[in-house]
Amino acid sequence: ELTGFTERDGIWFAEDIPLADLAKEYGTPLYIYSKKALTEAYQAYDKACIDHAGKRRARVHYAMKANSNLAVIDCLKKLGAGFDLVSGGELARALAIGADPKSLVFAGVGKSASEIAQALQAGVKCINVESIAELHQINRVATKLHCRAPISLRVNPDVDAQTHPYISTGLKGNKFGIAYHEVLTAYREAALLSQIDVVGIDCHIGSQITSTAPYLDALDKVLELVAQLKNEGIDIHHLDLGGGLGISYGDDNPPDITDFTNILLNRVAERGFAHLDVVLEPGRSLVGNAGILLTQVEYLKPGAEKNFCIVDAAMTELMRPALYEAYHSIVPVETKKIASATYDVVGPVCESGDWLGRDRSLAVEEGDLLAILSAGAYGFVMASNYNTRPKPAEVMVDGKNAYVIRAREKTADLFATEKVLPN
Ligand code: LLP
Repeated sequence: ELTGFTERDGIWFAEDIPLADLAKEYGTPLYIYSKKALTEAYQAYDKACIDHAGKRRARVHYAMKANSNLAVIDCLKKLGAGFDLVSGGELARALAIGADPKSLVFAGVGKSASEIAQALQAGVKCINVESIAELHQINRVATKLHCRAPISLRVNPDVDAQTHPYISTGLKGNKFGIAYHEVLTAYREAALLSQIDVVGIDCHIGSQITSTAPYLDALDKVLELVAQLKNEGIDIHHLDLGGGLGISYGDDNPPDITDFTNILLNRVAERGFAHLDVVLEPGRSLVGNAGILLTQVEYLKPGAEKNFCIVDAAMTELMRPALYEAYHSIVPVETKKIASATYDVVGPVCESGDWLGRDRSLAVEEGDLLAILSAGAYGFVMASNYNTRPKPAEVMVDGKNAYVIRAREKTADLFATEKVLPN
């Protein structure tokens, strides 16, 4: 899956550039993305949305929360992607790259009145509504703005996506979506509201999902609702199946993308709903393996119970291990003929939860570079300034060329808007 990042004769490259050259030029820690990997991931997904007769059966709306750098979303826009947004901030990013408002869907459990107004004024394709209270809020905002609001209701189908509990969203104990048994009532209510246009139905069951079965369970439940809506004269135009398809971080085994979309889209057709436009909202599966985090070994610290490999990246750059105990492969950027040892790879932050990999066998010395793989999704976007650490630079490689797509933050900027009290 790592099309953009390869090892040749013991040296790791981003496309045609040795990672060590990028470290020298831009410093570490450093996020590096491959335009080729991004492009190929998108094209594979998009191709899987078109059947063998050449008919488009679904459309990709990239979930930009996974990586919302303007260069990343601009590349995807140029390839034809629409977007899935979760905040006014993400809407502003989409508009900043000139995305077509009709290619935007807006999700989230706690959209503020101001965010709803921004979305309506921009003219988004659809707002995915997560509660009856929100439905009324949207109607009020649309009334004030003298406009109509296109909406889908997000169904909580109560299926177990069999993923980490923090990234599972389709269980009835989760805060997301409208409880399955309340959805019909909510649609009836929506149909009566003066400024609301019911245009679709939506569901999203979680993230890093590595089997198709939970998707099918959710789909069947959603299609059941679509049939009931039809009986009541509520006709919808699109079916949004959310995102969540997993990637391989090591030994994960996600379904092949074409098999995945075929299984789902065939089921939609079998149930007689081939006329519905299908929206897919992949995030991680488009960008996860298109990025790495490059870091330098500061110190090796052998110990009685553990050896620590202390690097200049931390939970502040990549929070996933600390937050979900997530696994990311870690490889030396240049293979050395020295003895390897088992290390916990940790950052400089003052927390025991600040680790990036545990019990990794590595042949490394101080000053060596390590690449933390599969860091293109939920990496930089979840970075923080904890411990007053400036966020790293982001670079995109395209063949032999590298472009800084976000400059490294400057320490002074981190507290530039802070003020001490007057005497
Ligand atoms: N659509 C909705 C409504 C979502 O909530 C999400 C992700 C997606 C699409 C995209 O899901 P994806 O294809 O990327 O799995 N920070 C966590 C992942 C949180 C996902 C949140 N929602 C992580 O690092 O694993």
